[in-house]
Amino acid sequence: MTTPIITIDGPSASGKGTIAAIVAHRLGFHYLDSGSLYRLLALHTRQQSIAWDDETRVAAAAISLPAKFIDGHSWLNGKEVSATIRAEHIGNGASQIAALPAVRAALLQRQRDFCAEPGLVTDGRDMGSIVFPMALLKIFLTASQEERAERRYKQLINKGESANLPQIKLDIINRDVRDATRSIAPLRHESDALLLDTTQLNVDQAVEKILMWFQEKQAS
Ligand code: DC
Repeated sequence: MTTPIITIDGPSASGKGTIAAIVAHRLGFHYLDSGSLYRLLALHTRQQSIAWDDETRVAAAAISLPAKFIDGHSWLNGKEVSATIRAEHIGNGASQIAALPAVRAALLQRQRDFCAEPGLVTDGRDMGSIVFPMALLKIFLTASQEERAERRYKQLINKGESANLPQIKLDIINRDVRDATRSIAPLRHESDALLLDTTQLNVDQAVEKILMWFQEKQAS
């Protein structure tokens, strides 16, 4: 029997990270937030003064990236950096380095190594299309740009950070365009992925829907 994998791909701020983590927890599966690997690499290269468009050096850094995930927290070089990698400028850097083919190639096996019994839930942009094409259940999770901007805005305000809604919306639009138009592994809804639009759904409703689809896949 092959290890069951659920892939959840979708645009920035669609809520896929929150939903994927809960689904993993409910099933007792491992969880990989692939975006955080790109974010850790963006932070690491910035700390090493490697330019985000220097493909050769960023890819070399990816191969030896001193990153670890422990209990849902991200570590870089022995330091907990979970909050640091969530900063908007690191997200933008992650999006830039993610467009470099050599960088994606360097991170491929590292992502595949997260697949282990009893199963894996993973979220990102190309989890179902490139990294785990054999996944049992593939989901494309999205929400309208307005809704995603508002969620990100509320998240920042709740954290006590300053936030500017029009600017967040613009960032989301730009990130969507860059992630969807890059030549390698662009973000798109592949035909074998089930569409889950959460514009009108709360987290619990989205989680229940995914668990139901998973049961159906397992039974078929
Ligand atoms: O999901 P996120 O916002 O944490 O991801 C940060 C950036 O990393 C995003 O702009 C695109 C990139 N990314 C990617 O290209 N492929 C993935 N599987 C995950 C993230």
